[in-house]
Amino acid sequence: MRVFRACGVACGGMGARARRRASRRHGDDSGANTRAPPWVSGSPYSWLGHFEWPPSTTSCMKGEPLSSELEPAIETPMVGKSVITLDDLSIRQIRELLHKAQYIDSHRKEVAHTCEGRVLATLFYEPSTRTRLSFETAMLRLGGKVIGFAGAQLASVTKGETIADTLKTVSNYVDVVAIRHPKEGAALVASRAASVPVINAGDGGHMHPTQTLADLATLQSRFGRVTNLTVGLCGDLTFGRTVHSLIETLCRFGNVNFVLISPDELKTPRYVLDRIDATPSCSYTEVKDLVSVIGDLDVLYMTRVQKERFFNEDDYLRLRDTYILDEAKMAKAKPDMAVLHPLPRVNEIAVEVDDDPRAAYFEQVKNGMLMRMALESSVVGDELPGYEPLEAKEVQA
Ligand code: CP
Repeated sequence: MRVFRACGVACGGMGARARRRASRRHGDDSGANTRAPPWVSGSPYSWLGHFEWPPSTTSCMKGEPLSSELEPAIETPMVGKSVITLDDLSIRQIRELLHKAQYIDSHRKEVAHTCEGRVLATLFYEPSTRTRLSFETAMLRLGGKVIGFAGAQLASVTKGETIADTLKTVSNYVDVVAIRHPKEGAALVASRAASVPVINAGDGGHMHPTQTLADLATLQSRFGRVTNLTVGLCGDLTFGRTVHSLIETLCRFGNVNFVLISPDELKTPRYVLDRIDATPSCSYTEVKDLVSVIGDLDVLYMTRVQKERFFNEDDYLRLRDTYILDEAKMAKAKPDMAVLHPLPRVNEIAVEVDDDPRAAYFEQVKNGMLMRMALESSVVGDELPGYEPLEAKEVQA
């Protein structure tokens, strides 16, 4: 049996034989039992060929190694900025977004016309409920409008149009784009072709930066901080892009002990582990058993096994129920542990856990919308009426 990663739009909707042919074209023909995609040990942008790794999209980071110890002294403004990973934002800018989201939540009427006259495009080449709807709701609640597609089948990609040409076109219509695509690096390609800010709403098994904004807001509201935490990440750590984004960003805030809980076949990619290794204040352990570590955790971040990134259904079926969080396991956890999950869930959290006050995953959903409101208004350059920037407040305090 083999675990193969789906190869994006090019393979979408293929039968098993066609997928096997495609997987050979993509070099996944080793005959190994279960195997990670090639980029797990290297660059998630490898299919792009000429793109460098680490990527230099990080306009505020100037391609430096990324850890809290190496935050740049000079940051670039948020206005007009594309967000492909959260490395594109400085820590100060992320803190400002957290602060803005809090303000938006308590000033819904005051901010309702902030983005009047703006248009957001949501280009979703992969299924989504939360991300697309919250990007769209965010713009609507700010007074703007929304166009886009949900599913590539009705877009001109089916006629062979490239991502770059699509973005050069859509840039004429809108002020900001949110794009989800099954290929790692697609959002980067989109941002380089577009003349308006592009926000990555999930690129294959790589990154999901706005989910991380929702996760950070949830940690901040539960603990009053996003540092000095023991964070367990459990499930599909290979393909779970939300995990990669969250680790990348928590490393920049620093002082996090990661407990990476997964079966051997779904371990964390090397490039993500390298990030932790490069951060002196952070550490990690890799384990297979959830029960033996749950009592140590401040945060348990559960993930779904990403069915859509497997080629072999038998492998998916074998791995999908490896971890099921239920009340019996919750009884071994700290009384204030927070359970996060990016959703959708399948079986990995029993419904009985929803009533446990430690379940924070529907709070994450709300925070996702608020953080996207903060981000969209910031990248188009519209100020929230009555909002006082965090920095100004801190100076006054
Ligand atoms: N968390 C998340 O990305 O959910 P959707 O796939 O529903 O957008």
